[in-house]
Amino acid sequence: MYLTGVEVDAVPTETRKVGLLTSGGDAPGMNAAIRSVVRAACARGWTVLGFRRGLTGLIEGDFVELAPRAVANILQHGGTVLKTARSEAFRTEAGRQEARAVLDANGVSALVAIGGDGTFRGVHELARIYRGSVVGIPATIDNDVFGSDETIGFDTAINTALDAIDRIRDTASSHERIFLVEVMGRHSGFIALAVGTAGGAEEILVPEVATDLDECCKRLVEANRRGKAMSILVVAEGEHEGDAFAIAEKVKARTGFEPRVTVLGHIQRGGRPTARDRILATKLGAYAVDVIAAGRTDVMVGEVGGDLVTTRLEDTGTRKKVLDPYLLRLIPILAR
Ligand code: F6P
Repeated sequence: MYLTGVEVDAVPTETRKVGLLTSGGDAPGMNAAIRSVVRAACARGWTVLGFRRGLTGLIEGDFVELAPRAVANILQHGGTVLKTARSEAFRTEAGRQEARAVLDANGVSALVAIGGDGTFRGVHELARIYRGSVVGIPATIDNDVFGSDETIGFDTAINTALDAIDRIRDTASSHERIFLVEVMGRHSGFIALAVGTAGGAEEILVPEVATDLDECCKRLVEANRRGKAMSILVVAEGEHEGDAFAIAEKVKARTGFEPRVTVLGHIQRGGRPTARDRILATKLGAYAVDVIAAGRTDVMVGEVGGDLVTTRLEDTGTRKKVLDPYLLRLIPILAR
């Protein structure tokens, strides 16, 4: 459920100390979000403590105070200056109790966690035992978080992958070859659907839609018969038929073609954030501070239909964001 109604303002409220961290897989635009949180909080006269290496640093009490100038010249860089990690310890009640104790011992009255659904599951549990505010900011290249049309990092990642696909198309066309391009998105096909559409892929294989590989191979053979000798298949890494190499073997066995495979991998996670990601990160960072000022907790900020909204952290994990059904229907129509 979306919750709205928090006014954007910079009215001074009681002095607060805000904890800030980035967690899970990094995403371009995380630095822009850090900068925005720090400066919006400091504009209210608050203090910000940046915890290093995500929830791991929170448990260990590893933090640094972030003044406005400490976040200068970072918004144009990929990665995260606070570092990030995936914390096993935070999955346990004992780990979360340690984190709560660190927050209380340092007088931190609000925590902003920048990350994806795994991070939000963890900090939602923290919100049960911590008296301060807990606010999430969605940042993952996978775009698989309910409660925001896009997550920070998605736009940069799809543009990076698209650049690669355009290059592959050149060589695929010259050699009249079939290419399988594997893109990230552990359990979701948002990246695959976006870059497959923008890159004119003949087939887009995503975990959300059952793949009929026999039919797919028939279409490749038929296209070849019509004189279309090159094809690009974009494969999401979470595809049920297997990874791109496994699928290439199956395609080879069923068609006799000799496909080539390119796995884009972590290249998609790095690089300068696009303007769109920087703007989204800037809005969501400042809005997270507004939400804290309004006394809210256990929510994620997001942008839906152009509006800044909040969604219960619990809902970000239990409700599923769906792929654009219109785009899904278009793929076979456009691949001629
Ligand atoms: O969650 C973002 C993501 O990039 C996924 O798309 C991918 O499956 C995963 O992280 C890779 O994680 P790691 O960097 O830990 O291998």
